[in-house]
Amino acid sequence: GFELSLRPQTLSQYIGQETVKDNLSIFIEAAKGRSESLDHVLLYGPPGLGKTTLATVIANEMGVNVKMTSGPAIERPGDLAAVVSSLEPGDVLFIDEIHRLNRAIEEVLYPAMEDFCLDIVVGKGPSAKSIRLDLPPFTLIGATTRAGSLSAPLRDRFGVPLRLEYYDVKPLQDIVTRSARLFDVDIDHIAAEEIARRSRGTPRIANRLLRRVRDYAQVRGDGNITVQIAKEALEMLQVDAHGLDHIDHKLIVGMIERFRGGPVGIDTLSASIGEESVTIEDVYEPYLLQIGFIQRTPRGRVATRLAYDHFGYAMPEEI
Ligand code: ADE
Repeated sequence: GFELSLRPQTLSQYIGQETVKDNLSIFIEAAKGRSESLDHVLLYGPPGLGKTTLATVIANEMGVNVKMTSGPAIERPGDLAAVVSSLEPGDVLFIDEIHRLNRAIEEVLYPAMEDFCLDIVVGKGPSAKSIRLDLPPFTLIGATTRAGSLSAPLRDRFGVPLRLEYYDVKPLQDIVTRSARLFDVDIDHIAAEEIARRSRGTPRIANRLLRRVRDYAQVRGDGNITVQIAKEALEMLQVDAHGLDHIDHKLIVGMIERFRGGPVGIDTLSASIGEESVTIEDVYEPYLLQIGFIQRTPRGRVATRLAYDHFGYAMPEEI
């Protein structure tokens, strides 16, 4: 068998992110009307919201190829030269985790973005020469979880900066329903809603939960996803009513039990529970902030009353 792709191919198949889609559809139509390449696009927001998917949709809508790479994969200017020299006019170059590009590469990228040319140094010492390569017009699509970590000059070179937001339950339910149809599995609409509710506003998580619930339905049921099957499977997967997993649990319970709910600094918290600070900041915190379980203060993170209630702790008295 083959692993079937759930990724939408067109903007009209892409569910949610209405503001982003409205903007993109105008800029795409306008660029096509002028027979130009689309201006450079920066996609930012928490992981799993569809940045890579959107890049392939944009390329598809523009009718061009997409070349995929990532910030950490481009170590030397030659690595960048290798990818851009394979581009055809109008193609999309997708750089995931663009905040992890090193400064030397950024410098080479600026003229590539602005004037479609690449200045690279060949050779070493006194015989080193700078050569200029002309590139076809192309669209750089950069993706990042942290727009704040991009240098200002790089950020300013994107004509179309777009922020992806967490999805509401309804669009996530539609994504789950669409994916189930692609899997050729029957799903009750309440079961789809339950999966959506526990997916932290994130399609990648919704589709992962759906795959596991589908496994459970196949082994313990007749393959169809009923409300009962979905509840049992989600119980077994240990995702709670908000979709929080054991790492969210460790984080919040750690704040409550070891730091009286905070404020606690990110590095102290990281050392205390044994998760990397960047993972906490990029993956776990944004959703916990969104649902109001933690707050950021100048002295560090604090657990809120909602978090105390959810995990069954009494709030400490003020002293
Ligand atoms: N699969 C993952 N994300 C999706 C989206 N936004 N729309 C449709 N299908 C998806």
